[in-house]
This record gives sequence, structure tokens and C-alpha cells, in this order.
Amino acid sequence: SLRVLTGIKPTGVPHLGNYVGAIRPAVAASRAQGVESFFFLADYHALISTQDPLRVQRSTLEIAASWLACGLDPERVAFYRQSDVPETTELTWLLTCVAGKGLLNRAHAYKAAVDRNRAEGDDDDAGVTAGLYMYPVLMAADILLFNAHRVPVGRDQVQHIEMARDFAQRFNHLYGEHFTLPEAAIEEQVATLPGLDGRKMSKSYDNVIPLFAPREELRRLVFSILTDSRLPGEAKDTEGSALFQLYQAFADVDETAAMRSAYAEGIAWGEAKERVFERIDAELAPLRERYRELAADPAAIERMLRHGGERLRDEEARPFLAQLRSAVGLRDLA
Ligand code: TYM
Repeated sequence: SLRVLTGIKPTGVPHLGNYVGAIRPAVAASRAQGVESFFFLADYHALISTQDPLRVQRSTLEIAASWLACGLDPERVAFYRQSDVPETTELTWLLTCVAGKGLLNRAHAYKAAVDRNRAEGDDDDAGVTAGLYMYPVLMAADILLFNAHRVPVGRDQVQHIEMARDFAQRFNHLYGEHFTLPEAAIEEQVATLPGLDGRKMSKSYDNVIPLFAPREELRRLVFSILTDSRLPGEAKDTEGSALFQLYQAFADVDETAAMRSAYAEGIAWGEAKERVFERIDAELAPLRERYRELAADPAAIERMLRHGGERLRDEEARPFLAQLRSAVGLRDLA
């Protein structure tokens, strides 16, 4: 069967980018016949960007509740917390020893940190932890530990998945065919959802729309999306319009075509925003309700995650690591 796997870093509340880039396509894929799904909270990854233990714990439960509110069925899906499967870190080491350092030098997140330092006249690696540098290797371990075929993600994660393929290929070449080569699954319509200011929606740009913002806040945020100064009656460009891209991520083909015509006919920005807001709210209102109920019982979510992690450890991670340990020449722990 086809294995689909994806994770989200618990560093804050989930936003619309996480929803359209990862949660919605992953949940849809998990409903298909013949698909085995693995969805997890990447809390080891969260430590790279936050040193606030309470935030990690709170965000883990919030993002878990979000997955469930968006339709994840824990009976069909392996749903777990990354750190509940500590074999992940052992596999990270095995992969570290085949990962090219030169390849890691080119990872986007690391390069962005170096570029920032250069722009400010600092040392290249000022403030860069080895954790940030190793980010792609840890992520490769997540994917390869369960030999996932497809990884639904937004465009920003594609490079990491290509690196996972590279590490898997090198390992297979040295030690035999242990790993499946994973592929990114990208929804072209929403590969990169823009935020309020038109840049990629991202916690680090402070431009996000929280997935479960109450209706009034959602309206306020949609109305705060940056638009140009064209007046009602003047034709508007869909190209480069964050508002249009946001609409497209929620609308079907006919609705999108109708909005395109409205832009050409010079719809007023206020009117366009009202339509975008109503469309998004129509999809999210029922999920928001469900989220509120789920978030009220964190103990139930905690039990579900633990159960998911334990099962995966016993059935998948431990036996697979035993196989890999023996392949590289380490002692069999059994
Ligand atoms: P994270 O937590 O930054 O984001 C989670 C998912 O949301 C997608 N995403 C977006 N998609 C479209 N438009 C946006 N503006 C946007 N912002 C975020 C991301 O592409 C991602 O799919 N490294 C990952 C977590 C991770 C992972 C993995 C993913 C750890 N191990 C293994 C897949 C497989 C991350 O930081 O995602």
C-alpha cells in the first residue's frame, strides 16, 4: 500500500498555510483506499526554534486538536508525537554519517540565517545552532523511519524531501536497499499561501491568519490584507494579489473563475474582501466548532498520541532500527 506521511512543528497556533499546504491535502489523501497515513507533531524540530517548554507542550496539543478537527480519523491514521518515537534520533545519527555536509550548507533555512548574518556584518554562523544546520537530516529520519512514499507539504519543504531522497540513496548504495525514496506531494493551487503582507504566510513573518480565529477576528484579518490603491470600477490584477490567491485556495474552479471576472470588472476591494472572508468562513466554521470541543479535553488527545506512538514503536520503529543497526555493523540489541 501507499504510505503518506507529514508533520507540523508545534511552535505556535496552526495557520491557514499549514491547513491548505499540509493538513487538508493529507487528511484527504488518508481517506483513499490502499493508503496508510502517518501524521505527527514534530516536537524535536520545534526545539530548533523555541526554547519555551510550555509553548511546545501547549502547541503540540493545539495542533493535534487541529488535525482531529480537520477530519483526521485516528482509527485509520497513525497519529503521534515525534519524540514518542525516539528511534527517530538514532536514525538521524545513521543518516548524519552519510549526509553530505556540502548539501546541508545549501539548505534554505541555514542559508537564510547565513545571509542575514552577512547583511549585518556578523560571522556567517553567528547564532546558528547545529540543530538548525541538521534540520534536514532529522526530517529525513521522520520520513525514512516509516519508508513513506508521499509527503504532502507546502513548497517551502520540497528541498528537504529532495535531501531525504539523497540520504536514502547513499545509504542504500552503501548498505543495501533499506529505504524507499520519498516524493513531495504539492497542491499547485496553494503551494505557497501568502500571508497578510503578501509574503509567504509564516509565523516568523508575523503575517498569519490563525486557522481557528473566531469569525470576527477572521473578518478583521482578511480585511487587513494588503491591496493596491485601485478604486472601485478600476480593473484589478489577480497576478500577485494575496487576496485572490487566498480565495483560490478555498474556492472551486467555477468560483475562482467568477472572482477572476469580478477582478477584471473592477470589484471594490471591500466587496472582494467580504466575499473572500465569507468563502473561508463557510469552510472553517464547522471545523472551528469541532476544534473547540476537542481542545476542551486535552487528556483524551494525550492518550491518543501516546497510544499511537507506542504502537508505531513496537510494530515499526524498533524492528526497523534493529535491521538498520545490523546493516551498518552495530550490535543487535535484541
Ligand atoms: P511547518 O510546521 O513549518 O509547516 C507545516 C506544513 O505547513 C506547510 N506550510 C505552508 N504551505 C503553504 N503555504 C504556506 N504559507 C505554508 N506555511 C507552512 C509546510 O510546507 C508544511 O508542510 N519541517 C516541517 C515539519 C516536518 C515534516 C517532517 C514535514 C518535520 N518532519 C517530515 C513532512 C515530513 C515544518 O517545519 O513544517
